[in-house]
Amino acid sequence: MPHESTKILLPEKDMPRQWYNIIPDLPRPLSPPVSPATGKAITPDELNAIFPMGLIMQEVSQDSYIDIPEEILNIYRLWRPSPLVRARRLEEAIGTPAKIYFKNEGVSPAGSHKLNTAVAQAYYNKKEGINKLSTETGAGQWGSALSLACNFFDMKVHVYMVRVSHDQKPYRKFMMETWGGTVTPSPSPLTGVGREILARDPKNLGNLGIAISEAVEEAATNKDTNYALGSVLNHVCMHQTIIGLETRKQLELVGDYPDVVIGCVGGGSNFSGIAFPFVRDKINGKKIKILAVEPSACPTLTKGRFVYDYGDEAKMAPIVEMYTLGHTFMPPSIHAGGLRYHGMSPLVSLLYHEKVIDAVSVAQKGCFEAAVLFSRTEGIIPAPESSHAIRAAIDEAMKAKDEGKQKTIVFNLSGHGHFDLASYNMYFSGKLDDYEYPAKLIEEALTDLPKVKL
Ligand SMILES: Cc1ncc(COP(=O)(O)O)c(C=O)c1O
Repeated sequence: MPHESTKILLPEKDMPRQWYNIIPDLPRPLSPPVSPATGKAITPDELNAIFPMGLIMQEVSQDSYIDIPEEILNIYRLWRPSPLVRARRLEEAIGTPAKIYFKNEGVSPAGSHKLNTAVAQAYYNKKEGINKLSTETGAGQWGSALSLACNFFDMKVHVYMVRVSHDQKPYRKFMMETWGGTVTPSPSPLTGVGREILARDPKNLGNLGIAISEAVEEAATNKDTNYALGSVLNHVCMHQTIIGLETRKQLELVGDYPDVVIGCVGGGSNFSGIAFPFVRDKINGKKIKILAVEPSACPTLTKGRFVYDYGDEAKMAPIVEMYTLGHTFMPPSIHAGGLRYHGMSPLVSLLYHEKVIDAVSVAQKGCFEAAVLFSRTEGIIPAPESSHAIRAAIDEAMKAKDEGKQKTIVFNLSGHGHFDLASYNMYFSGKLDDYEYPAKLIEEALTDLPKVKL
């Protein structure tokens, strides 16, 4: 029998040298982001208070491809191109005729896809003379990635870490500090937003919406500091497209092309990364299913509404049109912290609204079951976030088995779960529950939406 590759490796010299920008290929234009201060379409000058012009220009660019600067490529070369792996042992274990491939973004030094945009954001800020960034982090993946990226460019970073994760996951904090980051649990007494929340509720455990508000406030009130966001925004999604561009080349090497492409969605960036290059193919006539997977406890696409909403608790970030559960939505404490965000990337939202992509929600116990099977077949312990994509990939492969179809399924393994073992322990001890967010509470959270008239 001829040997077929398990790891499909792209030589460094073939690493893509451009990111793909989906904006000109969208079925209809995005609605403009709105300033929470003026209620009007936000201007580049307003955004420039917290973002560098280089990134603002990418946010609105109409160019289909944007060159990746050499300085960024040089850092990407530390772990990119990441391997595309044929999950033969998983296929065998579930007895499917489908071929399952996964793109392993867990090989980045920070442990997830987040480093792809962290390096780019640090670079464009540094280029415009900014030496300090503020940001938020939930489970700690984004804060780790930005701490490492800022270290490469000799910049400072201040990370507001959601208090519940800060207290439960000290090793992520130590990781950020090892790379030179400073970490503060959020809500904190360092900002007006944090002080107000602590005055009302001194034991507040925090959430991403609050941490974003604190980080934005720090950047908006300090001239030398900019803000960096790890997901949602157009430029962040674009930086991640190197994942899908590599994947397409790697599949070409083995003469394959996907029937199904899958990614988990929190704010939408790793999904955009694996999916957008294939969305372009779909818009150009390819038949392909592109599936976003979210937790049933935070079902933004499948149960949210497509409207203008605030991106953060304190209404400081731009108001964007997106699927949302309402900015006051309090996500339950599930074990995929990175997927607990009330909103969604406007790009992913628009593609879902226009029916270019599909979405499904899955419950956490089924995700851990899939993660354990994956760990025991492929060897890699996945991040709980990524386990949502694994669950959906297995479900698609089982469907192919029932239909007796030979399908090719590709999913993004957005990160490893080495710092999430306490969650695995809870799963093994039977302490995890599934949670379906009640429709009534979503309705309530959606009563406080901004009224936008442009
Ligand atoms: C490993 C991992 N996967 C996925 C996500 C979800 O974010 P996004 O939807 O932006 O990819 C996160 C967020 O923290 C993460 O850490």
